[in-house]
Amino acid sequence: MTALTLIAPTPALLAPTFSVNWDHVTPRILSLAYIAAALLFILALAGLSRQETAQRGNKLGITGMAFALVATIWAVIQYDYSGVALTSFLILLALVIGGGIGVWKARNVEMTGMPELIALLHSFVGLAAVLVGFNSFIETPGAHSATNAFHMGEVGLAVFIGAVTLTGSIVAFLKLSAKISGKPLTLPGRNLMNLAAILVSIALMIWMGHSRGLASGIVPLIILTIVALALGAHLVLAIGGGDMPVVVSMLNSYSGWAAAMAGFTLSNDLLIITGALVGSSGAYLSYIMCKAMNRSFISVILGGFGSEGAVSTEDRDYGEHREIIAADAAQLLLSAKSVVITPGYGMAVAQAQYPVADLTRKLREKGVDVRFGIHPVAGRLPGHMNVLLAEAKVPYDIVMEMDEINDDFASTDVVLVIGANDTVNPAAEEPGSPIAGMPVLKVWEAAHVIAFKRSMGNAGYAGVQNPLFFRENTQMLLGDAKKSVEDIVANL
Ligand code: TAP
Repeated sequence: MTALTLIAPTPALLAPTFSVNWDHVTPRILSLAYIAAALLFILALAGLSRQETAQRGNKLGITGMAFALVATIWAVIQYDYSGVALTSFLILLALVIGGGIGVWKARNVEMTGMPELIALLHSFVGLAAVLVGFNSFIETPGAHSATNAFHMGEVGLAVFIGAVTLTGSIVAFLKLSAKISGKPLTLPGRNLMNLAAILVSIALMIWMGHSRGLASGIVPLIILTIVALALGAHLVLAIGGGDMPVVVSMLNSYSGWAAAMAGFTLSNDLLIITGALVGSSGAYLSYIMCKAMNRSFISVILGGFGSEGAVSTEDRDYGEHREIIAADAAQLLLSAKSVVITPGYGMAVAQAQYPVADLTRKLREKGVDVRFGIHPVAGRLPGHMNVLLAEAKVPYDIVMEMDEINDDFASTDVVLVIGANDTVNPAAEEPGSPIAGMPVLKVWEAAHVIAFKRSMGNAGYAGVQNPLFFRENTQMLLGDAKKSVEDIVANL
């Protein structure tokens, strides 16, 4: 016998000590991974709440999602008794197809196409919740007995919220991508119709709870699905163009609650936690945006607001506009002590943030005080302008929110309105205007305004004419914003 065989224990001795009972270990590992993922999601949200920490927040969220995915896939394979090979193959196939589409979309989407993409993604969450609800209804043992009313409630809620999210998000996608008109659909008695749909849905859920067997339960479930699908479409169809940002964040919140309900039906704690985080943060964002746009939170949830009694400003004669060329704009800026730049969607379209950052640096080097005024719904995404300016390395401390800067316009020499329209429209102060009551940046109070835009023909997102462009102290710099700003920089 060699020394080695004396030291090394035989496999027979090792086996009892190191054998693992995966049936006991898997749930524990899964719980640990889910707790880690949930904590990472909370930290991600905390990070995303501030510009300086947003990138870190994103990375934490990605790590949390990786934990959740790996742990879930591993557990599914562990628990699968019907054939590991088939399950693994199906998961791999779904990952390759889903991941492939995700990578392709992420690489191709324009920054300007993000809102509609997000709306479309929300619709997938809604669809998933509906499918999970139906699956749970058909599969869960006992689901067909009257004693399982609680479970029926979960299924009913998952399908209801999921279906509202599904069609609401599809309509939002169609509106945002201009595939259907952005004008609000104001059917007579629409609020009553919405209320009736909600009451009927509650009655159908109670019916489901009292049904016995698959055949009798499926009838109210199918009617509930149809009512909820119609309700979701109607809620969003009733919303007018300028109010779409609040709808997008509201649908974000709905998709979170749909995921949480799917979590209940699947008994998946992480899905419940994640869904609740998305649902509540989306609701809070909607609340902030409602406050910023002076809209009532309740009327947003009920759909259709800010569109009644609208008076078109299109036919009014605002007189002639005045134009300026880049060289003169440069001279005006050089003679100014204080300049405020209010960017909008046009800056994103033109990708003008880099020359804008250049212009800012050059003016500051020449002793001009330059700041930015950011409207909460400027662009097409919450924080859209902040992201673009951060990308171009504009210092955070000169980027002000609307409330921080609105009182300073009266003492500002020059305001550069770069591709903004609705967010600087004084028509918002006119009762009866489609954007009435929406707080705007009061740029017209400055001594001089230079507005960048491609032509005088197009209105802003809400389709409302902007009297700012015809004011005495406003001069239009027509053309692509990137080219116009580059020309000014060249003339400094
Ligand atoms: P908008 O009202 O959308 O106006 C954009 C302006 O940019 C227009 O005057 C347009 O005029 C000009 N423009 C477009 N491309 C340009 C280019 N390449 N160069 C120069 N100018 C260009 O912008 P806003 O003030 O940012 O308002 C945002 C609107 O979108 C609000 O009504 C808001 O409710 C809505 N919305 C916001 C969100 C979020 S969450 N932010 C989401 C959905 C909808 P020309 O076409 O003549 O150039």
